[in-house]
Amino acid sequence: MAKTPTILAIESSCDETSAAVVHQGKVLNNIIATQTVHKNYGGVVPELASRAHQSNIVPVVNTAMKDAGINLHQLDAIAFTRGPGLLGSLLVGTSFGKAMALSLNIPLIAVDHMEAHVLAHFINPPYPEFPFICLTVSGGHTQLVLVKDYLGMQVIGQTRDDAVGEAFDKIAKLLGFPYPGGPMIDESAQQGDPLAFQFPSTNIPELDYSFSGIKTAVKYFLRDELAGDPDFIKDRLSDICASVQHTLVQMLFQKLKIATKQYNISQVAIAGGVGANTGLRQEFLELAKLERWTVFIPEFQYCTDNAAMIAITSHYKYLDGQFSDLMVGPDPRLAMDKVHRQSREGLKD
Ligand code: KG4
Ligand code: ZN
Repeated sequence: MAKTPTILAIESSCDETSAAVVHQGKVLNNIIATQTVHKNYGGVVPELASRAHQSNIVPVVNTAMKDAGINLHQLDAIAFTRGPGLLGSLLVGTSFGKAMALSLNIPLIAVDHMEAHVLAHFINPPYPEFPFICLTVSGGHTQLVLVKDYLGMQVIGQTRDDAVGEAFDKIAKLLGFPYPGGPMIDESAQQGDPLAFQFPSTNIPELDYSFSGIKTAVKYFLRDELAGDPDFIKDRLSDICASVQHTLVQMLFQKLKIATKQYNISQVAIAGGVGANTGLRQEFLELAKLERWTVFIPEFQYCTDNAAMIAITSHYKYLDGQFSDLMVGPDPRLAMDKVHRQSREGLKD
């Protein structure tokens, strides 16, 4: 077994088909084909996503291999995203990864997408020190994760309903933006006043979150304002976006602050697609100064879905001997606690 493996990693959990090669712990590339087919549907259409992965996966993998300058026989393992995600999307990457591992007769490594978002911090330095807290914010998840080691993570708080990315996208839809609207709220917010409008933020017990209330609050706020001024959205778009963004970001940080105190941790990281948000990144840096945190924010390309994060995770799983057999299947509802339990059992189910 190679101590410094070369691994091809595949990500296909949602609407990005991606491949990356990691060699001796260094990620060599990160090839991503973003699906634009969902734009007019207000969300990802699972069947269309699955079909697009099927068309994209061969060119994406070929490009990653060619770009890395290695041939198939130099690979020590194949890694793929096992879950969580959309079943039809996960199936494409899982089947492709299994077929490659089988034909090359090399080990297969199943990766938890959420764990990989956290480990995106180990693609390039500076690296966080263990233990640290990671706020993972994506389209499907909002989690506070206590990271004790590369492969030792514990979810200490999470959303009880919508994910924060989902709240961004649903509110963006109310404002007339195409899917995914999160980045468009971000762009428009840059010209707006974050204190122009007040939206109620939901505070629920412990370190958990709830984002469904703010979406409803914005919906009724717009209905009332539009009744008085049909051009309200057009005239005040950037102020609405800045206010919504500020409220969501404050909700995220309120629990993050409690978590750092509760666990007495001052190394704090952000991960996931919403981690690309300009307002969140800015307010995070300001908060870090006040709270005296050492903070870590991944490069933009490693915030949203990508195979580089799957590749770096697979490197550590390889070193730890965490391989899967060919009976492994996709798991749309894969949860972190489950992945640890199963990895100890050799991922058999
Ligand atoms: O991590 P990710 O790429 O996919 C999932 O695993 O869900 O996250 C996608 C989410 C979407 O909801 C998208 O709107 C949001 O991240 N997002 C943003 C920004 N860039 C991506 N939300 C707000 N501001 C951004 N700049
Ligand atoms: Zn993701």
